[in-house]
Order: sequence, then structure tokens, then C-alpha cells
Amino acid sequence: MVLPEDPKYALKKVEEIREMVDNDLGFQQAPLMCSSRIKTLLFISNDKKVVGCLIAEHIQWGYRVIEDKVPDVNSEKEKVIFERQKAWCCSTSPEPAVCGISRIWVFSMMRRRKIASRMIECLRSNFIYGSYLSKEEIAFSDPTPDGKLFATQYCGTGQFLVYNFINGQKNS
Ligand code: COA
Repeated sequence: MVLPEDPKYALKKVEEIREMVDNDLGFQQAPLMCSSRIKTLLFISNDKKVVGCLIAEHIQWGYRVIEDKVPDVNSEKEKVIFERQKAWCCSTSPEPAVCGISRIWVFSMMRRRKIASRMIECLRSNFIYGSYLSKEEIAFSDPTPDGKLFATQYCGTGQFLVYNFINGQKNS
């Protein structure tokens, strides 16, 4: 975990990784974050490569995703295709939240090996000293289709919290 007060070389590395992640996510211009409040988790492989990155920030509010009815489909694969294509909507009523996941990214060749799940577990135990965050206290920033599929599985519901979705501006 890299914290805002860590040495400059570590913060510089985190900045480089964030730029690469933003390119991969297709962010044209990354929304500005208050860097003194963010915590970055890096997942390092055995051969010492950064294969996962999670950037978290303090937030106050999240908005619950409104689940669409999935049409009757035959297979899990068809369900995933449907989930990938549809846009998501969320409630306009804010709910209290504590931790916003601004970015979560895993190197493409290493996906579906629970790296993102393990990073979130680690975040939950380390975001606030001495406390373990519940899934209800976490919100995801403007999730991508992959992010939505992941969050639905991780949170055990499609009605997880989201934030920060209006023109990339902070709304929390
Ligand atoms: N399609 C369907 N289900 C998915 C999924 C996908 N692309 N990614 C995760 N899941 C679900 C699965 O149920 C998975 O368990 P399983 O592999 O046993 O079926 C479960 O979530 C846990 O996934 P995990 O292995 O912990 O996630 P990951 O390490 O592959 O990372 C992302 C998930 C989203 C971080 C990764 O796909 C990624 O980096 N995508 C590109 C960046 C991005 O879109 N980030 C999200 C921003 S909100």
C-alpha cells in the first residue's frame, strides 16, 4: 500500500502506474483526485511486476445501482454478454459510504485469478486503521462493464454502491 506521505519515488511510481491504468480504462483526462487522501494498493507478482492496482479515496456518499431485469437467456455466457452491453442506472438518493474505489485494474493476462478480490479484501482491512470495512461501506467509481460484473459478484448483489459518475466530476 502506498500512502500520500510515502517517499517521492514511491508516489512517482504510483503516478506512472495510474497513467497506464487510465490509458487502459480509456480515460481521456483523468478526474483530479485529492492526492493527500488517496491510498493505492499494488499487487506485485512473484517476478516483481505490478499486475494489479487499486486506488481508493475517502467518500461520504454512494448511490445504489438499479438492477435491470435480465432477459430469459439460456446460458451464463449469454447473461454476461447482456450485462456487458447494457448501461447502468443508479438511484438519486445518496446513502452513507466510507471508501470509494476510484480505479481497480488487473493486468489482462492475470484476470479471473481473484487478484481484484484480494486487493479489495486488503483494502477493507487497511483503509481505516483498526477497522474492517463492510461491503456496504464501499462504492465503485463509474464502473466499466468488467467492473460491474466483478462488483456484482464481489458484493453479492447487482445493487452495489457507485459514485463519481456525473461527467467525471466528484459528486460525493
Ligand atoms: N466477466 C464476468 N465476471 C467477472 C469478470 C468478467 N470480466 N471479472 C470478474 N468477474 C467476477 C467473476 O465471478 C469472478 O470469479 P470467477 O473468476 O471465479 O468466476 C469474480 O468476479 C472475481 O473476479 P477476480 O478474479 O477477483 O477479478 P480480476 O482479478 O479478474 O479483476 C477487474 C477484475 C474488473 C479489475 C479486471 O477485469 C480489470 O482490470 N478490468 C479492466 C479494468 C476495469 O474495467 N476495471 C474496473 C473499473 S470499475
